[in-house]
Amino acid sequence: MTIFKPNKDQCFIAPFGPTMGYFKMPNEMVEYLNNSIDKKLDDFSDYLVGKVSQELHFDKELRHYVSSKLLGFIVDYHEFTKNRNSMGELSLDKSKTPSLDITAAWFVRQFENEYNPMHVHANCTLSCVGYLKLPEGIDEEWKEDYKDHYPANGHINFIYGTDGLYTNSNFLVKPQVGDFYIFPSYLYHGVYPFYTKGERRSFSMNMIFNMS
Ligand SMILES: [Fe+2]
Repeated sequence: MTIFKPNKDQCFIAPFGPTMGYFKMPNEMVEYLNNSIDKKLDDFSDYLVGKVSQELHFDKELRHYVSSKLLGFIVDYHEFTKNRNSMGELSLDKSKTPSLDITAAWFVRQFENEYNPMHVHANCTLSCVGYLKLPEGIDEEWKEDYKDHYPANGHINFIYGTDGLYTNSNFLVKPQVGDFYIFPSYLYHGVYPFYTKGERRSFSMNMIFNMS
């Protein structure tokens, strides 16, 4: 346990709860993944919670590609978390070799009126989502939805703990092509339906990270 020692006259701290990470994927990564959807990939949608059209598993080559593109960011995520969780006392030992075991990875092909119920990911320590495609014209739907006091169409909702005074338990994210989020596998999340005709495409992965 690290004991907090303030080093400024004033600060605000959020020392509890999980860390999430955001990374902007380069265009060529989005393109590569979108082009890979035409490969003959196995559909595992019958075994996953999503009420969506298809959940296509990555083959070995795709898992290797994504790992090579994201490992640096995932190391940074670990370093940030270690530093944050120790109130700035500890950082990652960069002399060690990082390894990323992708235990499962898949495309999620969600179409109008489909949704993904609240869930967590099993048999891993980290999960993530990356956005690859949105239905043409969804901005019009969002423009209308944002007039409401609680817009949600096609958004992903993360939930942690219970709401209370000076506490936040609800985090809503609007998907944008190229946006990638990483989070602990136990963090509840779900996706609301949208109504614009077309495909909202993302990918998810279950991962175990080691640095030894
Ligand atoms: Fe998920």
